[in-house]
Amino acid sequence: MVLIAPSILAADFGRLNLEIAAVADAGADWLHLDIMDGHYVPNLTFGPAVVKSLRRESKLIFDTHLMVTNPDEMIPWFVDAGSDIITVHAETCPHLDKTLQSIHGFGKKAGVSLNPSTSEKVLDYVMDKLDLILIMTVNPGFGGQKFLTTQLEKIKKVKRMIGNRNILLEVDGGINADTAQLCKQAGADVLVAGSSVFNNPNYVANIAALR
Ligand code: DX5
Ligand code: ZN
Repeated sequence: MVLIAPSILAADFGRLNLEIAAVADAGADWLHLDIMDGHYVPNLTFGPAVVKSLRRESKLIFDTHLMVTNPDEMIPWFVDAGSDIITVHAETCPHLDKTLQSIHGFGKKAGVSLNPSTSEKVLDYVMDKLDLILIMTVNPGFGGQKFLTTQLEKIKKVKRMIGNRNILLEVDGGINADTAQLCKQAGADVLVAGSSVFNNPNYVANIAALR
């Protein structure tokens, strides 16, 4: 059973509370929160104040994807805002092992994300500290990009690395009904989808098409 995590990056920001209620009713398992700082990635989204307000509106798992230059500084902000899972980019963490320990120290689930050009080898010595691995299937920064098929090989490799460990394998970027199938076949457990969930009003059908 695959989990579906709609990314509110593609939702209507003027009515976010209604949008998250609608995807919850439509069968979403998690809510994916894309935090972009305009520095690590060339786009700016929203911060902990917005997450905290949404927390009051929703019981969904808050899957927080930090695309920021200084995640170590910001992790406590999102802990306080009510995130359940906090995912950092390996490329932004000079002391990745320590960062993961810090997330667990706050009692939250810890994830690591890899850009398309980053090797899965960076995970080798932190596997025991991971609850989630996020494979980027586009270059982070924007919704609506084309799925990079080069990442299917990485998804398969990481699935093998996970073995029987209790780590979820998540994919993010360009996921639609077609690429969802490829990712599931390669071993993905969680599918993040922005455009393909929010771009037309039939959220029930859009989410069902990904399963
Ligand atoms: C991209 C974000 C994604 C984005 C996916 O940097 O991390 O979560 O919202 O959007 P789609 O599904 O439109 O590719
Ligand atoms: Zn994301």
